[in-house]
Amino acid sequence: MTEAALVTGAASGIGRAIAERLVADGWDVLAVDFTPDEDGPGEAFAADLTTREGNRVAVDAALERFGRLDALVPNAGFQHVSPVESFDEDRWDALVALLLTSPFLLARYAWSALRESGNGRIVVVASVHGLVASPFKAGYVSAKHGVLGLVKTLALEGAPTGIRASAVCPGYVRTPLVEEQIADQARAHGMPEERVLEEVLLAPQALKRMLEPSEVADAVAYLLGPRAAVFTGAPLVMDGGWTAR
Ligand SMILES: NC(=O)c1ccc[n+]([C@@H]2O[C@H](COP(=O)([O-])OP(=O)(O)OC[C@H]3O[C@@H](n4cnc5c(N)ncnc54)[C@H](O)[C@@H]3O)[C@@H](O)[C@H]2O)c1
Repeated sequence: MTEAALVTGAASGIGRAIAERLVADGWDVLAVDFTPDEDGPGEAFAADLTTREGNRVAVDAALERFGRLDALVPNAGFQHVSPVESFDEDRWDALVALLLTSPFLLARYAWSALRESGNGRIVVVASVHGLVASPFKAGYVSAKHGVLGLVKTLALEGAPTGIRASAVCPGYVRTPLVEEQIADQARAHGMPEERVLEEVLLAPQALKRMLEPSEVADAVAYLLGPRAAVFTGAPLVMDGGWTAR
């Protein structure tokens, strides 16, 4: 029996590494993205996950193609770096829609399929910013804190029918999302770009290196695997010691 997973943001960075890992582990994978990569891992599917319709068609597509859905990995995201005073309100709405509402809608639309699976699993790619804040990231930090609350609720509601829900909370991971924000951070902090990585991004981390996308994929694969049967309702924190202080 081949299990089926829906991975969002699967064309780039962490989502791509997760899709690659799940395909290698023998899963059928619907690789959902705003800009899907037809040559990437899994079956590429285009959807704008800031909309209800986008989340609905993604779940429907997975069920049509695979006839089942055993796992959801809501991962798609972006960052917006700005002081609160000038934080663009549309960017706030889009962050909440993608990082918080999309995982809710995917769970809502896939719930009966996950129940029928008998071993339904949801692993949200949250962030260390679901646990602590940094300045200039009001939308991202708020939505990531919110999604950890959603995970707890899904875990409590899902337990009686075998659905588990958890999250991973990485520190900085070497992906386009981080590379793009170095320039924004330099502007917001008023310092040259070359000082941003060490003095801003990695300053709170005990381990002075970024994670690799494959390391996050390993953690997600573990949470989806048979040895993680008691993991539900809580995040797996992989922050290089960020929250140890
Ligand atoms: N990179 C990090 O340091 C880091 C750390 C902690 C958590 N995260 C989280 O990991 C997740 C993936 O981040 P990444 O670093 O791989 O980013 P990335 O920019 O490399 O990839 C994000 C993907 O999401 C897709 N996407 C964006 N908006 C979308 C939309 N409206 N609908 C569908 N797809 C959309 C993009 O097209 C892109 O392929 C995000 O939720 C991010 O918050 C990243």
